[in-house]
Amino acid sequence: MTNIIDTIKPFYPLAFKAIRGNLEGTQKQLLNTLQKIDRSRQGFWGQWLISQLSESLSFSDSRLSQSLWGLNFPNPVGLAAGFDKDGLGAGLWHNFGFGFAEVGAVTLEGQPGNPKPRLFRLPEDLAGLNRMGANNLGAPVLAATLQQSWQRQPRQIPIGINLCKSKNTPLEKAPEDYLGSFRYLFPHADYFVVNVSSPNTPGLRSLQSGEQLDKILDILQTENQGRKPLLVKISPDLEWEDIITIIELAFSYQLAGIVATNTTTKRTGLTTTILPETGKPITEEAGGISGKPLRERSTEVIRFIYQQTEGNLPIIGVGGIFSLDDAWEKITAGASLLQIYTGWLYQGPWLVSNILQGLTEKLEANGLTNINQAVGINNRPLEKIKNLPLGKESRGSIHESK
Ligand SMILES: Cc1cc2nc3c(=O)[nH]c(=O)nc-3n(C[C@H](O)[C@H](O)[C@H](O)COP(=O)(O)O)c2cc1C
Repeated sequence: MTNIIDTIKPFYPLAFKAIRGNLEGTQKQLLNTLQKIDRSRQGFWGQWLISQLSESLSFSDSRLSQSLWGLNFPNPVGLAAGFDKDGLGAGLWHNFGFGFAEVGAVTLEGQPGNPKPRLFRLPEDLAGLNRMGANNLGAPVLAATLQQSWQRQPRQIPIGINLCKSKNTPLEKAPEDYLGSFRYLFPHADYFVVNVSSPNTPGLRSLQSGEQLDKILDILQTENQGRKPLLVKISPDLEWEDIITIIELAFSYQLAGIVATNTTTKRTGLTTTILPETGKPITEEAGGISGKPLRERSTEVIRFIYQQTEGNLPIIGVGGIFSLDDAWEKITAGASLLQIYTGWLYQGPWLVSNILQGLTEKLEANGLTNINQAVGINNRPLEKIKNLPLGKESRGSIHESK
């Protein structure tokens, strides 16, 4: 019998074009529908829909599975933070073929985010522009949502939570704010990401500076005591010396890894000049660019981290993955895991299984037997700026490149 998800496939590009003006609303509807499906997973229709999703979108091969931080990742392709901020689809992401998923960003207090419209497609650039501003229901609500979800069905893939500072919390109180969310959410996820790189929360990216990040990591790791993997997510707009400082902190606080990268505030290389929805030049529109224009820089940052750490710090690579080649590029530059967002929207949910199947072919072509053997194989010879790991000294300030 024909699979219902497969029947949608030929119409997906048209449908994606048609939702042009209301991408945020459509995403919200999808997430609400997913939550309904998850809640009715015991019933006939729930079960049927879930099996249709898996049948159409999943791809399983033991060569793609790897163990990291004591967690089993059935494949290296994950859902990036920001799509499922409130964890509504948390129990279903494995049915979409993902090997892991990161929910959030969540803040300690619920917050509405920035005024709409705040999410735009730039089709000529295969990109997105967003200034959502971490709209979410808050850590206590996410904790309850996830708890209910895991009661219905235990976690099938590793689930991460992306933690962000509440907009109303002053920057100097950021450590306590992150800690508050971490405490609420601790039992409900497998790993946590300190998001100090979203361009849409005023001043947030200044928390990437050594001194500020030090305090956040200190308070979180003191609470954590090594029980859950903690990562930091960085901006693509940092200078190398700032990334070095973050790597030093990652070692001194025994972080599990770095997520590279978030969206960029740069507007270079874009074909789009005017944002049709507002009629204003793209250079005057606030927000972060995701998708294709980010691909190269994100890979460059991954390559840099891999080189400086000699592959000793796992990297989750994210930014502009639209195809198998994009995925392979990031893995062979040094990413152990990948995340996708914008490419998944443009290409449709079949992108995940297409990439996964392609990865198995790449492994064969390169004589490799597991995906972890591919990590970093195309990295250039080491050009280290500094010998790492270093101590806690030399915490500079952040220089966002213009
Ligand atoms: C609408 C939107 C919302 C996002 N929200 C978050 C977020 O809350 N936290 C975060 O760390 N990254 C967030 N991101 C960044 C993505 O997780 C990802 O790092 C970035 O989009 C690059 O990947 P991509 O090119 O595959 O989209 C968001 C991205 C988009 C497009």
